Amino acid sequence: MASGFKPEHVKIAPSILSADFAALGQEVRDISAAGADYIHIDVMDGHFVPNITIGPSVIKALNPHSQQPFDVHLMIAPVDPYIEAFIDAGADIISVHPEASPHVHRTLQAIKGAGVKAGLVLNPGTPASFVDPVIDMVDLILVMSVNPGFGGQSFIESQLRKIEDLRARITQSGRAIELEVDGGVNFDNAAKIVAAGADVLVAGTASFKGGQEQYAENIRRLRGA
Ligand code: DX5
Ligand code: ZN
Repeated sequence: MASGFKPEHVKIAPSILSADFAALGQEVRDISAAGADYIHIDVMDGHFVPNITIGPSVIKALNPHSQQPFDVHLMIAPVDPYIEAFIDAGADIISVHPEASPHVHRTLQAIKGAGVKAGLVLNPGTPASFVDPVIDMVDLILVMSVNPGFGGQSFIESQLRKIEDLRARITQSGRAIELEVDGGVNFDNAAKIVAAGADVLVAGTASFKGGQEQYAENIRRLRGA
């Protein structure tokens, strides 16, 4: 198992779900200036998950506000009819849940075919082995460490074993696949999540805590933990 993993650079992907939605452009500018590596955007449909957030038109409007890659996490079903709209909106990475498409291989092909990076998301109850048939296609694997739908939930400890397991699968694949962890990441648990094998940490609550003057310190603490 891969515990003790030490990536050269831990990327921090603040989830704008915890930003002030009434000032989203400014929030994205501020969190980018504070050192965010990716802007993590949670798209929810009130059907695949019990919450509704934002769609492609908001993502498009945010483009001029950041140079950082837009890491778009789609929690919508069906997902296939909307892939093109998110590509057109300026997504740099699009991650999909296998449960949201009857043909996840085709979904990943559509994303990759447009020159966008493709991610597969594993819910807490979805096994690591789901990545095996598509490991040659994905640029990123996203481990949900909460059940998707809301920010501010507690990290599910059992996902640490899955992170270790997935890091071993990535090493075995020989491919440069990022391993991102999403949900309940905070200053206290970031170090052990990275040691288990993660190299990208999504953080909503922890990134946006304390208002704009705290953002750089929040990101520094998450990265350095
Ligand atoms: C949950 C979302 C997460 C969430 C993380 O469905 O995918 O990205 O915003 O929020 P925190 O960091 O507050 O758990
Ligand atoms: Zn997310």
